[in-house]
Amino acid sequence: MNIKRVLVTGGTGFIGSETVIKLIENGYEAVIVDNLSNSKKSVLGRIEKITGVLPTFYQADVADEKALREVFEKEKFEAVIHFAGLKAVGESVEKPIMYYQNNLGSSLTLIKLMKEFNVRNIVFSSSATVYGVPERVPLVETDPVTHATNPYGETKVMIEHILMDTCVAWKELNVALLRYFNPIGAHPSGLLGEDPNGIPNNLMPYICQVAVGKRDHLRVWGNNYPTPDGTGIRDYIHVLDLADGHVATLRKLEEDPGLVIYNLGTGKGTSVLEMVAAFEKATGVKIPYTIEPPRAGDVASNFAATDKAEKELHWKAKYDVVDACRDAYNFQSKNPNGIE
Ligand code: NAD
Ligand code: UD1
Repeated sequence: MNIKRVLVTGGTGFIGSETVIKLIENGYEAVIVDNLSNSKKSVLGRIEKITGVLPTFYQADVADEKALREVFEKEKFEAVIHFAGLKAVGESVEKPIMYYQNNLGSSLTLIKLMKEFNVRNIVFSSSATVYGVPERVPLVETDPVTHATNPYGETKVMIEHILMDTCVAWKELNVALLRYFNPIGAHPSGLLGEDPNGIPNNLMPYICQVAVGKRDHLRVWGNNYPTPDGTGIRDYIHVLDLADGHVATLRKLEEDPGLVIYNLGTGKGTSVLEMVAAFEKATGVKIPYTIEPPRAGDVASNFAATDKAEKELHWKAKYDVVDACRDAYNFQSKNPNGIE
């Protein structure tokens, strides 16, 4: 089936907005639904500034069946990319019901309406968190998915299962589960990037805030892991590469593959201290740090096997961590208080 118009839930968020840009640049039309719980409406104007196209936008909660039905009635689209969801690990431990309600509720409503309106393609934003504590790295798509280590991760495991079951019952449905590793970076224009609320939990936004003087120093969570420099290793992927991965996935869905699962990572692990060095190289800004005890729930090393995505999607990450640090810092410097 030819895919031309795409419903993008969570399309004003960090990854969604970059993906909307890539969709437009690749000749697709995007219709965004977002409740703006973790993004700003001004993102739309920034997308227009970059692409020349102001995407159609509905401010609505994807879990609100009445509101979402109106979108399905008004708009025509052949595929959905489902980014909408809450994603803060710590918050999910404190407010599990809110996470289950929002993430599961929105996915169930969306899938129900897709069936009703016969929309037969969906790309879902899953996460490497579904692999739980890895038995070995690199992680391959066939590695076991049992339990995640927190409610946020558990919603991803559950939604994967809901989509798998739906695929069995509804033979014409195509589902792509994309397991993202650690998305970082920003649009090179400095117009769009990651805009976390409060004190960042993740490494890259924290380093950026140290670089612009918003935080005093980085706290490195542990240097006694069984890794070459003792700090944790992750697979950091530039958000532009991740966005390209979604376009490649839509092309795959046009082949009517049924259920497909891909890791979206670079295949390369980078330690915390290597990230600090990459940031300093990219920006010339020194990042002071202290070594602290390990963070609960952290694993030593986590990175993707990317062979399957490379072979089947003809997609491969192009940018390295130095590129991503440069773009993230550029965004942070131009938007010291986030997107306003
Ligand atoms: P984000 O918070 O920037 O974007 C998510 C968007 O969804 C926000 O704009 C928010 O307002 C919207 N939203 C949330 N609940 C909604 C609802 N019920 N109805 C309508 N809109 C809703 O997050 P992101 O980093 O762009 O992540 C996008 C997706 O990718 C999420 O599902 C996230 O769990 C997943 N993911 C992110 C990462 C990461 O590190 N950023 C890693 C793995 C997976
Ligand atoms: C975290 C989440 C994961 C989620 C992902 C993307 C946890 C345990 N895991 O992954 O479920 O999918 O974010 O949102 O929260 N680090 C520091 N100092 C800091 C911040 C991080 O040393 O201030 C280190 C961490 O110990 C880790 C690495 O940097 O080794 C990356 O951390 P982070 O960016 O939080 O990502 P993950 O832990 O991989």
